[in-house]
Formats: sequence, structure tokens, C-alpha cells
Amino acid sequence: MNRRSFLVSAAAAAGAAMSSPALAVEGGKPIRRTPLSAGYFGTQVYDDHEQNQLLEVLANRQPFRWYGPGSRPPLKVATFEKELAARMQTRFALAVTSGTAALSTALAALGIGPGDEVILPAWTWYSCYNAIVLAGALPVFAEIDESLNLDPADLEDKITPQTRAVMAVHLQGSPCDMDRILAVARKHGIKVLEDCAQSMGASYKSKPVGSLGDLGVYSMQINKTITAGEGGALVTSDPVLFERATRFHDLGLLRPPHEQWLGRARLESFAGSQFRMSEFTGGVLLAQLRKLDRIVEALRGNARQVHAGLGDLKGLRLRQRPDPDGDLASFVFLDFRTKSQRDRFVTAMKAENVPAHPPSGSVLLPVQPYIEQKATVHPAWPSFQSKRGKAIRYGAGCCPRTSAVLDRFAGIAIGPKYTRSDIADIVTAVRKVYPAVL
Ligand SMILES: Cc1ncc(COP(=O)(O)O)c(C=O)c1O
Repeated sequence: MNRRSFLVSAAAAAGAAMSSPALAVEGGKPIRRTPLSAGYFGTQVYDDHEQNQLLEVLANRQPFRWYGPGSRPPLKVATFEKELAARMQTRFALAVTSGTAALSTALAALGIGPGDEVILPAWTWYSCYNAIVLAGALPVFAEIDESLNLDPADLEDKITPQTRAVMAVHLQGSPCDMDRILAVARKHGIKVLEDCAQSMGASYKSKPVGSLGDLGVYSMQINKTITAGEGGALVTSDPVLFERATRFHDLGLLRPPHEQWLGRARLESFAGSQFRMSEFTGGVLLAQLRKLDRIVEALRGNARQVHAGLGDLKGLRLRQRPDPDGDLASFVFLDFRTKSQRDRFVTAMKAENVPAHPPSGSVLLPVQPYIEQKATVHPAWPSFQSKRGKAIRYGAGCCPRTSAVLDRFAGIAIGPKYTRSDIADIVTAVRKVYPAVL
């Protein structure tokens, strides 16, 4: 079946469904017999390539990235870094153990610490806030807007003389409005750290996310575009940031392969952590990285068909996307007028076995009890010792718009392995449920 006849038959099925008022939630027949699930993207494409990479590491007895037995050096992590830098169009890439470790490494590379403020969206993952606190700096929340990403206007409002950086988190597959964020950052002389954990493979105006700011970080935990279960990486084109990052991730050391990549050492050592990636992880991620574009293309193709099938739905409002073509397309988000409409939609879609969810995968951070209480590992932790740190208040009061936006949206997950009939089910279910809940 070609794309046109597919869409026509999906629309016909939708028309039939619309003439039948019986929502599954009201006792009607569900669109699907079993719930649709997008699954874990990376693991769905595991095959001989990942297996062979792992077997090679075992056969060579070289699980450690810098050295091991045998005459040839281990090269899995090193090759992953080279290929990641090429894919993300940056000069350098550094593999680390997790996205959280990548965030800490990026903040250390930027030299952020006590007395500094870092702005982050009020809706993102714990790691973003925690990495700022663990650096000894002060997290300052800014609102998200209908793009479900950082609102550049609110970012500007939150800048103070102490602000050193902003975390531009590309949430749930869609790039932030980078032109506006970069313009605000340049105007105020602050650094831009792109957190691409939820959007690896997305791009903004044809540039890969991660390559637009000063530094970009990725996560390869199981929920991400590619995965080794755990894993993280950082990219930058700035040799000083790269040297600081590689030193921080490895006890302050600069190992010969990275010194060679840099051309020369520019910095003295300092106290660093230990976030080195193992060759097992590096091998699996190398195989996965080589499949990244295939996964992204599949997601985009599937999401395009969902959008095409819903395009004429009266009153439909979607997530605002600053670059729809660059979207990873892991979700289609619908914007309702009220929370109760959204909740009815979610309940009814679940009954149709085509689940839709309130925005997930991130949390409304300012209302998390440990954040409201400014809890740290030590009572004298520097983040909250300054005048600003003592005065700052978190809680619902610092993000009313973020919470209102999150109340109105519902997302449908897109999977790279969805069949045409899965996509037709999504289109049919939305066309059946959406008008009924409005
Ligand atoms: C936006 C964001 N940043 C950072 C991370 C941390 O990644 P990891 O789980 O690999 O530490 C995540 C993980 O979900 C995330 O969603």
C-alpha cells in the first residue's frame, strides 16, 4: 500500500469510527485489542553488530578504554568518540558513564561553582538540578512555554549578574528555540549547555542538537534514542572546554589519545572525578550510533504520517515546534484547552488501547520536596549559603505557567517499529476520541 492509499484508508476508518459514538471508555469496542507501545528504541534494533562488538571486547580481554593485554590498544570508546564528534559536527566528543555524569562534567568544564547561578527549565529531569547543586552553584528555574521547552523570554527575566550558564534542555524530542536562546545568552555573556538527553538525533535548522551551544550532552540510558543501558557523552568544539571535560572525567588526567586529539595540553591538572566509559559500553554504543540515523528516519516517517492523518481535525492544537523538520519525532503532543479535557482524552485513549499520557519523562522540579527544602548532602553546602541562595524560594510559586502548560498537554509516543496499522490505529483513535472530549 502506498502512502496515499494508506492515509485514505486511515481516514476512512476514522470516518467510520466517528460515526460510531461508542468510545471504548463508554463500553464501545476499542480500536486495538492490545495496548500500543513504542518500546525502547535502541534495544529494538540490537542485532549481531552489538553482539560482535561485545564479543570482540571479551575475546581481546580489553574491557578498559585506555590499556589492556595485547599489542593493539583498545579502541571501542575512542572510535565511538570520533564517530560521535563527526555525527554531531563538533571538533571533540567525550564518552562518560551517564547523562548525569556528562552534565557534571560539562559544568566542571565551564568552571561553574559556588556563587554562580545556572538557569534551567522548571520541567526537566532531576539530573539537571542535581548537577548544578553538586557543582556548588545555585539552580534558578525558568518557565517552559507551549513548545514544552524553556521559554526564552523567561530565561532573560531570570538572568542576574551571577548567572553563568543556561541549560537548554531539548525535551521530549523537540529542539529548543535556539536562535532566541543563543541571542539572549550572547547579549548577557552567559554560556549555553545543551542537554540533548531526550533528543539525541534531533536537529535545529539542520544543525545537530548539541552542536549549537558551548557544550552538548547526551544520555544513552535505556529510554533514550540509542542505548547501552547506561552511558553518556559530551560534545564541544572548544579545545579548552574539551580538555577541562576530559580531565574532570578522569581524575584530572589528560591521557595521550586525548592529548593527541587536542594537539597539545593547555592546562594544569585539577581534582576530577572518574566517569570513564568501559569498552563494553563503548562497543555497544558504537554499533548503536551507526544505527542512529535509521532510528531517527523511522520515527520521523511515522510521526509525519500521524500528523498527515490528523491535519484536518477541527480545532486541533499541537505542541509548538521551532523546527518541525528537526524534531526527533518521538512524540506527538496535543494541546487541550483545559486539564479536564486533557484528562478525559487520556482516559479515553487508554481504553482504546492507544495510550496518551500527560507529559512524562521529566518532572516539575520546583515542587519536589527535596528541592523545596533545598536539601543537600551537607548543611553547609555552598549552593544555598550565599545571600541569593538563602533567599531563593522554590515550590509551585516559581513555575505557575509551566504547571498550567503541563496540565493541558497529552502526548502519544511514536515508535520506530510502528507498522502502518499501528499508525492507522493512532489516527483512528485520536479522530474518534478528540471530538468527543472537546
Ligand atoms: C533531560 C535529561 N538530562 C539528563 C538525564 C540524565 O541521563 P542519565 O540517566 O543517563 O544519567 C536525563 C535522563 O533521563 C534527562 O532526561
